[in-house]
Amino acid sequence: MLGKLIFLSTVVCVIALLINIDYTAQYLNSKVLPTIYEVLPDFIIKNSNSSERQVEKIFSREDLLQYKGTNGGRVYLAVVGHVYDVTKGKKHYGPGGGYEFFAGIDGSKAYVTGEFNEKGLTDDISALSPSQIIGLEGWKSFYEKDYKFVGVVEGAFFDKDGSELPMMKEYRRKLDLGHQEKSLVEKDRQLFPPCNSEWSQADGGRVWCSTLSGGISRDWAGLPRMYYTAGNSKPRCACVRTTGPPSHDMNSETHKNRGDLDNPNLNVYPNCSPSSESCPLPQSS
Ligand code: HEM
Repeated sequence: MLGKLIFLSTVVCVIALLINIDYTAQYLNSKVLPTIYEVLPDFIIKNSNSSERQVEKIFSREDLLQYKGTNGGRVYLAVVGHVYDVTKGKKHYGPGGGYEFFAGIDGSKAYVTGEFNEKGLTDDISALSPSQIIGLEGWKSFYEKDYKFVGVVEGAFFDKDGSELPMMKEYRRKLDLGHQEKSLVEKDRQLFPPCNSEWSQADGGRVWCSTLSGGISRDWAGLPRMYYTAGNSKPRCACVRTTGPPSHDMNSETHKNRGDLDNPNLNVYPNCSPSSESCPLPQSS
């Protein structure tokens, strides 16, 4: 009896398994495989030296132009040669949307110049500065996060085989440079924090320092000075540390205990005592 029972349940299990496999196969055929084929179309399988992704679809410029969302179709756009499906943001990018000019093209440059015309909507980013490239990278990260990556487009960054072109390398180089510049500026802001400032019709302008001025929290307030930095014709107001060694020689044993006051890039404000904690701004500033 027990033997018969075991045999019967085995038969039932095998049938159930077969039905299940058949169902799974049907399900895969109807739902999953088409989706996979959509993502892995005919002419792909590329992975250049980029470690980012294994598989990409390569769009020609003409291919991409088909995705402007007309007649209820999907909307794709490209940033830095990377194509994203932005159909869920159709209200922005679809026909009549406020940013429809980005659809179907790589308009990388315009993301940071705001030049939303034929000249500005281009993937030629060679004229952008390192800090603008940081801005553009911000947009790319935005699309990575909020939308689906679907491939790369042949253009300034990738060739027709999906291999990277020199512009991609230039992009990375400028991005690195931008990050380096940003950290130098940040370091400079820590050493020479911006001053507080106010202006009124009656009294004109005034600058002063506090332990939180410039948004830099510290245990010293400092004195206001005109601070000249490379690449800027106009000085900015900096709060300068008045005690301890100078920042460029923190281990000095022979310092004059004047902090950074003797830095050659600093000037005392006109009509303001060198020890004053608040200075009136010159009329032209
Ligand atoms: C270089 C300048 C600008 C660029 C490249 C830009 C780009 C964009 C993009 C791509 C979107 C859609 C984001 C998404 O997919 O969700 C967007 C949304 C939006 N932008 Fe701009 N934008 C710029 C300037 C501005 C300015 C100056 C304003 C306001 C004065 C503005 C207001 C908005 C608003 C309100 C939305 C959201 C609309 C909504 O959710 O319905 N943008 N922008």
